[in-house]
Amino acid sequence: MSSTLATRLRRFVVVGRTATGSPDFSLVDLAGTSGRLDVLVRCVRAALLVSHGVRRDVIVYLVLLGAPARVVRIDGRVSEWLRPEERRLALIVQRALEERERARSPVIDHEDGPFLVLRNGVAVANGGLEVALASIPASSRRVLLDEDAPDVRDASLGDDDLTIVLGDHLGLDDAARAHVGHALAVSLGPTSVLAEDAIALMHNELDRRAV
Ligand SMILES: C[S@@+](CC[C@H](N)C(=O)[O-])C[C@H]1O[C@@H](n2cnc3c(N)ncnc32)[C@H](O)[C@@H]1O
Repeated sequence: MSSTLATRLRRFVVVGRTATGSPDFSLVDLAGTSGRLDVLVRCVRAALLVSHGVRRDVIVYLVLLGAPARVVRIDGRVSEWLRPEERRLALIVQRALEERERARSPVIDHEDGPFLVLRNGVAVANGGLEVALASIPASSRRVLLDEDAPDVRDASLGDDDLTIVLGDHLGLDDAARAHVGHALAVSLGPTSVLAEDAIALMHNELDRRAV
């Protein structure tokens, strides 16, 4: 069953401090050759995939700050061929990064600001967190996932689209927090969990509020 519980968009922006923006990594040893892109790929699964379906109200932005800095955007409304296998999702990211390095490509559908949008709906841009955030409408409310913030269960999240920013295995540094600027910071509980699990917990909170 595919999930369309909420009508508003949830955008997850995952900041990968070491994840490579180059396609030159091995799918066989993803964690060891990509600056821990594996952490971000698992975030794609957690953000977009549910049992037997895709969350069509979710857009994921992988901010890859390992040189060259790039952003890969996977839009659940239009993306095709999404499957939960980590290797397959890593391949989708790798193909997008390859296309960014080509002058011309038959799989590029159109340009959307700094993003090249591929035929499978995945988009890729040069740049870092500022590029991802600038591409998101100002009406989307920013939420920062932060272990030390007040509990999300006490937070009013309103009815707006949400842009939810979180860190990778290294967490969010001061530079990332400065880029995010004004945001509602929330904790998901007393335990610092893996980034992918933070996404699952946030989805669960929003799903419960939506029914
Ligand atoms: C593995 S954690 C980062 C841990 C890292 N050692 C640190 O100190 O920031 C990955 C990200 O998930 C989010 N996260 C993890 N646990 C959380 C919690 N309990 N509440 C809110 N956000 C959380 C944060 O955005 C964090 O940067």
